[in-house]
Amino acid sequence: MDIKFVPGLADARAEAGMLGLSARPGPVWSGEVDDYVDSLGAGFHQALESGRFEAKAGQSAVFNTGSDRPHTVVALGLGDDPDADTVRRAAGILGRRSSRDSVVATTLVDAGPTRAVIEGFIMSQYSYDRYLSSPDPAVTESLVLVGDGDRTESRAAIAVAEAVCWARDLVNTPPQDKAPTAIEGQVAELADDLDLRLVAYDEEALADGGFGGVLGVAAGSHRPPRLLELWYEPDDAAAFVAFVGKGITFDSGGLSLKPAKAMETMKTDMSGAAAVIGAIQAIARMGLPVRVLGLTPFTDNMPGPLATKPGDVLTTRNGKTIEVLNTDAEGRLVLADALALGVEYGPDLMVDLATLTGACKVALGEKIAGLMGNDEKLVRMVAQAGKDAGERLWHLPLPSDYRSQIDTPMADMKNIGGRWGGALTAALLLEEFVGDVPWVHLDIAGPARWPKNEAYQTQGGSGFGVRTLVSLVEHLAENGVDP
Ligand code: BES
Ligand code: MG
Ligand code: ZN
Repeated sequence: MDIKFVPGLADARAEAGMLGLSARPGPVWSGEVDDYVDSLGAGFHQALESGRFEAKAGQSAVFNTGSDRPHTVVALGLGDDPDADTVRRAAGILGRRSSRDSVVATTLVDAGPTRAVIEGFIMSQYSYDRYLSSPDPAVTESLVLVGDGDRTESRAAIAVAEAVCWARDLVNTPPQDKAPTAIEGQVAELADDLDLRLVAYDEEALADGGFGGVLGVAAGSHRPPRLLELWYEPDDAAAFVAFVGKGITFDSGGLSLKPAKAMETMKTDMSGAAAVIGAIQAIARMGLPVRVLGLTPFTDNMPGPLATKPGDVLTTRNGKTIEVLNTDAEGRLVLADALALGVEYGPDLMVDLATLTGACKVALGEKIAGLMGNDEKLVRMVAQAGKDAGERLWHLPLPSDYRSQIDTPMADMKNIGGRWGGALTAALLLEEFVGDVPWVHLDIAGPARWPKNEAYQTQGGSGFGVRTLVSLVEHLAENGVDP
């Protein structure tokens, strides 16, 4: 998408098919916009009134001007004191309405960060149509930002929004077309384009390296697993972070088979890995001075003849053993290996993202991720990164006395806890593999898949986590690890 900056409405009106005007309760427009609104006459005010437009956040009202440019004016409500995500959502509403127009203009940059406007607009026009015989994608070619926009923000905004869309594509891809080896191919291309270093562990390397968790989960599938190690290594890095993402390319549950309904969305069980690779892409494009390692174990979880059985004991990368009592609690097994490998590289901090537990989705619903961690300062830092990025995270505890729920006489731990607090016992197992490294775990089982089209979100894979990780790295680039 081409982004243009123009100082005044007159320039934009000569070009744009659709114009989005930001509105505060009143509705209040200012200066030049006010004059233009006046010139639209009574019809516009009628349109506002008929839709009972009060300029509340999330509201919008559409008016056909009867002329050509713009043929439509959309009033975009922002409420009294819009934060960045309110503006991002308003841009999303505009993007959704204007997907048939090649040139779209908006005054939203006067209400909030240019970055949020561009991000919201691009993300909202995403569609996944690879398997449709008559695809009907958005046609918008340029977005004209009217007013006081900040040109320096457009590169980052485009990088982030496109990375989110890349992650959504991978999440939405049918499982048949995203075998671990196929994903390796895609990531190799990306690494080529962006000058990233990719190390792919195949089944042999995984066996040699003692990755019993990944191999144990992969055992039931004909498709071989891959653990991808993706490095972004700029000169003069202010910090070194490791991101780990769950990459289950289809979660059938394994021998502890899921019911049919629960399996319908399980192609999305690699959303954590998609977010990690998406974020690294954006970070590289933005040229941020932070060294980033992405660790993404990709494998199916299937009940094939060689599948891990309930009762089997796996030995993980750091030597700790796990008794598998439910093969559907597979995410923690692959993450155990990946986290242990991360520790070996000595990062300043680690963040993992995983569609890990139904329990987290029960607790926080479909739009909010659970956040757990072993380090107060990092927990606060990641919580703030989520806020800045417009992704909702909620801090949950890691109660050390719950650790006994995963005790077993057979091994160092078992892979399921008791009936309650499933998101927490899963995270407590992960904690066994992070050593002394400051670490945060994001359980994105809910928001990885958006339930409906809504502002800049589209139904299906959401790319959740990309923006939080980028925002965290931006913070580290500016402040270092110890601000
Ligand atoms: N991938 C699922 C978790 C999940 C459920 C993600 C629903 C998104 C939506 C995970 O592998 C899983 O099956 N977890 C089990 C763990 C249980 C067996 C301890 C769960 O949550 O039921
Ligand atoms: Mg499972
Ligand atoms: Zn899973």
